[in-house]
Parts: sequence; structure tokens; C-alpha cells
Amino acid sequence: MNIEKEFFGKVDGGRADIYTLTNDNNMAIQITNYGGIITSIKTPDKNGNIDDVALGFNTLDEYVNDSPYFGCITGRYANRIKHGKFTLNNKEYTLAQNNDGSHLHGGLKGFDKVIWDVEEITSDNSVGLLLKYRSQDGEEGYPGTLSTELTYTLTNKNELKIDYAATTDAPTILNLTNHTYFNLAGEGSGSILNHVMMINADNITHVDETVIPTGALLDVTDTPMDFRTPTPLGTRVDDDFDQLNFGGGYDHNYIVNGQPDTLRLASVVSEPTTGRTMETLTTQPAVQLYIGNFLDGTLTGKKGSAYNKRDGFCLETQHYPDSPNKPEFPTTTLNPGETYNETTIYKFATE
Ligand code: GLA
Repeated sequence: MNIEKEFFGKVDGGRADIYTLTNDNNMAIQITNYGGIITSIKTPDKNGNIDDVALGFNTLDEYVNDSPYFGCITGRYANRIKHGKFTLNNKEYTLAQNNDGSHLHGGLKGFDKVIWDVEEITSDNSVGLLLKYRSQDGEEGYPGTLSTELTYTLTNKNELKIDYAATTDAPTILNLTNHTYFNLAGEGSGSILNHVMMINADNITHVDETVIPTGALLDVTDTPMDFRTPTPLGTRVDDDFDQLNFGGGYDHNYIVNGQPDTLRLASVVSEPTTGRTMETLTTQPAVQLYIGNFLDGTLTGKKGSAYNKRDGFCLETQHYPDSPNKPEFPTTTLNPGETYNETTIYKFATE
């Protein structure tokens, strides 16, 4: 096991390094402190061949200028807030409307575009990085000075564990996630529609045409949204179903069965040709399945291949979108004296 650090580049907020975390099985993950971006995940297939299963770029400039949130930490509020407005303790706040008139992924300069402080952590069975960022009161329109500490850990069980912790000095809202795009056949190898997906969710949040929850829950039974039985992502993605039209394909918030705040299975994905599998476990109430519907061939990945529509999928563990405007959803308010704590594990294996 070890951690190596290399210079990645310079940006406004300072110096970006790239850290390579390697475990005893030669699984390796690279992370940069710019946006806390996971830039690569190298893991074996069923024959022992190592490949990179995370979409991304070779250069910092591309992450700064072109990235559709590849691998990054998204915050302060991952996903959408309708019209970029919410009311907290009788005061209305306005955030950037950076997505179809609504707020997406923390705004114009979210947690994906800032420089995080880094400490390396080594223990008997894991290597990791502690990332810290202090977001000032009013940053991107959000109230409260927010101190976030996030730990990425690579264990000898081939788990990538992400622990989030945050505190605030004034009431605020918070919803953090990681936005890695996976392709278990290897990034740049084409479509992910053959990946077999299981999602442990009886319901999704029903959305309007702007992909914002209406407030209703939709029981997935007898719909193309149902992944309780493992099903290839491509089997029903183009079915004529209003929820799929609105997202341009899967781009929906699945409410993970079981008790939020306890680590439980959210999803299992497998890729038939390489035998790679990935389990997702989380304490978060939900997970956004997004299948790269907006990739359009204009970005070039690490191996030089264009990323086309549906060449990667994300499993963004999170709170429900637009929760600040939906009192019936689990709260995303964080008050002084409270600590936000969430954990997500992506576990890689082969079958
Ligand atoms: C999230 C959203 C998608 C899209 C991507 C980034 O997954 O749900 O609609 O905005 O981020 O392209």
C-alpha cells in the first residue's frame, strides 16, 4: 500500500496535486485536490487485466474548462433546486440558476471547482486522503460558513469509501455527493447500456419536465424505472415513458430501501464481458442514477476516445433533489451544533 503525490497544475485557488493511492491488490485510485476529483480508478477484470473504470481527462485544464462533473465532489447542494430559490427560517435565498432556470450542483463555482487542503492517511489495511474546505458565508449564495471534511479511503478489500462530515456557524442547507462516471468495461470503451444494474429501491421521486421532483413518489413496479431485479441498463431506457423523456434517459433519484443513516446496499452493477462488479452502499436516503445522457462526443477521454451519449453512468448517493422546497422530503437543513455525516462505499470485485 502506498500514496504518491505529483504536481498536476496551477489554478486560481492555488496548486493542484494528484495523489495515487494503491492497495495491496494493486488496485489504484487517483484523486486531485482540485474539486476533490477522482481522476482514475484502476481495478482488475475477471482475468486479472487492470483497466481504468472512471471517465475523466489527462489534464487539469480540461477539468477546469470542460468537465461535466467528472469524478468531483458536488456541493454545497448536489443536484437541482427549483429556480435556485429556497426559504430557510423565513428568509429567501437565491442561488445561481445554472441549469434550465434552476440551480445545479452548487452553482457556478461549486465544491467541484475549489482547491481542497489535503492530509494523507495510512493505516494497516487502507490508504486515504482527508480533504478539507471551508466555504465562506454567502459563497454561491448559501448561508453560513461551512467547514467540510471528506475522507477518501481505499481498503485492501477493494473498497473506495467516502466519508463526509460538515458543520456550520448558521443554519444552512447541504447535500454532498461524488459524481464519478463509471464504465466497468474501461473508460473510453463505449456504451454502458450492457451493464446489468440492480437498485434497491421501490420508489423514485417523480419529476417534472425539468427533472425536478414534483413532490410525489413513484412506485417503480411495472415501469422501466424498476431495477430491483438486475436488468441491463439498455433494455428499457428508450421505452415510451414520460419520466424517461424528461431525463433524456435515466437521470432519476432512487429512494434506497431501508433506514437512512444506516449503511445499506443501494446498488449492484456488473459488466458481463469483463466480469467487473461494483456494489454501492450508503447511509444516504437516495441515489441518483444518471447514465451520461448529455455526453455528446465532444469530450475526449484519457485513452483518446470520444465520450458519447451513455458511455458512463453515475450513482450519486444523495438527499432528494429540491428538498429545501419540499418539506415532505427528508430535511437537508444543517444547524449550528449539528454535524452532517454520511458514508458511501463503492466496492469493486469480479464474477
Ligand atoms: C447530474 C444530473 C444530470 C446532469 C449531470 C451532469 O447527474 O442529474 O442531469 O446534469 O449531473 O451533466
